[in-house]
Formats: sequence, structure tokens, C-alpha cells
Amino acid sequence: MKLTQDQLRAYARDGFLILPNLFSPDEVQAMKRDLQRIQDIDTDHLVREKTGGIAKTIYRVHEADGPTASPVFHAAARAPRLLEPAQQLLDDAQLYVYHTKCNLKTAIDGSVWQWHQDYGTWRRDGVPTPGMTTALVMLDEPTEMGGCLYFIPGSHKEGHLEPAFDEATAYKFWVVPKTQLLEIMERSPEPVPIVGPPGTVVFFDANILHASGHNLSRHDRWQIYVVYNPVANRPADVANPRPDYVRSTNFAPLQLGTDTITDEVHA
Ligand code: SIN
Ligand code: MN
Repeated sequence: MKLTQDQLRAYARDGFLILPNLFSPDEVQAMKRDLQRIQDIDTDHLVREKTGGIAKTIYRVHEADGPTASPVFHAAARAPRLLEPAQQLLDDAQLYVYHTKCNLKTAIDGSVWQWHQDYGTWRRDGVPTPGMTTALVMLDEPTEMGGCLYFIPGSHKEGHLEPAFDEATAYKFWVVPKTQLLEIMERSPEPVPIVGPPGTVVFFDANILHASGHNLSRHDRWQIYVVYNPVANRPADVANPRPDYVRSTNFAPLQLGTDTITDEVHA
């Protein structure tokens, strides 16, 4: 699938691009079924909420091996619907998956993600440039009450902001310091809620400022993220690198797959 010039321009201007209904209801159900299976696995590839042991984040579902391997997401990460736009947005045919992350922001329990830039973490991983793109796939219909993601349009143009480590929330990571965040918010457009029907895909820039709140609703807000990085932008060696499930060392360029996304076993 190829993006139009208008879509490429919108992504460059806003730092994100929303593509409604890119996956069908059946395909979304196949993805959800596989995550329902994987969420019970006991592995370090899975982070749980502070209460109740509920799965918050599942990593590395795109590979053919490993505890969280999923044939459905292996196919989705290589499907022309995702891989070709990523190649266009990064103007590079040789991409690999930096990581996949499934955020199961479960009804009532699903918790906050503070304001951050993804490249704030990935730079510390040794990635030379922010020339990466993420494909978000909505598996439920996110709402404001249900803790949808918010983007500050155009904030990717701020460039890299030196992050601070936040230990207060269920997922400890590098966030934008509050004083700087407020100053940027004051002179930026209002944050926009990223909502849409299940199957919607959103591509976004590694430097866009984004966050999401607690899920106060009775509906789950499951969504997955496939992060694409050019092989040429693979991370340099760093001391104490993060594990492979968040900083993949499989740098083999992705081969374009097919648009068949199913968990049915064919004879
Ligand atoms: C993230 O930004 O990494 C996750 C945010 C979310 O899933 O709401
Ligand atoms: Mn993020």
C-alpha cells in the first residue's frame, strides 16, 4: 500500500498520520485472540500493572521465535499495509523492527503513560538518529475516558529534548521534564486525542510528544505498536544495552510479506 503525496506532507507537518480501518474486524479479532493467549504467559517480555497482575505491555510479538512469538503479528509487521508506508515515510527500503509493544490498557486498571518522546529512550539505546517511525494499530476503539493516546501536533519539530527518568508510574521510563513540557505546551496547538474504530493505524514520528491517561472506562483499550528502523540507523554499542525484546538485535532487513492476516491453521 502506498501513501499519497498529501499523506506524506501531512505526516511531515503534524508528525503523525491516521489511516482508519486499515485492518478488518476479522483481522483485529485474530490479533486480539493471540494476545489473550499470550497475556497469561510468565515471561520477562511482559510487564504487569502494579495491581492485580493484569498484563500492561507485551513485547516482541513479531518474531518467529521466543516466548511471546505470534504468527499473526509476524505477518502484520511484514504486511504491505504497514511495511510499505513505513518504507516511504523513512525513504528507505531496508527496515527492521526495532520492537513491537502491545499495550493492553485494560478497563479500570490500565494506567498512565507520562508525556515523552520515544526517541528520548531510543537515543540512550545508541540509535544514531530519530529517523524511525511507529505504526500503532487500534484493537479496540480508544476514547478520551478510556485513556486514548494524545499527540501535540508538530511537536516532533522540537527535536530531541533531554529526558528525565520517571519512577512514579507502573512503567518506569524517560519522560519530558515538566518545566520544559509546560513551556512547549503553551506555544503549541492543543494536544489531540487519537481515536478511531478498531483496525485504525496511526504512523507517528519518534520525536512527537505524546502521553495517555488512566483507563477510567469499562472498555479495554488494547493497541499495538510496531517500530520500524532503517538497518543503517541500527544502534551503536552502549554499556548495559536494554534487552533484545525492546532493542532488537535482529537487523536483517524485513522481506515484504502478504496482506493475509489470520490465525486460522490451513491444512
Ligand atoms: C507509549 O507511548 O509508549 C504508550 C502509550 C499508550 O499506549 O497509551
Ligand atoms: Mn511512546
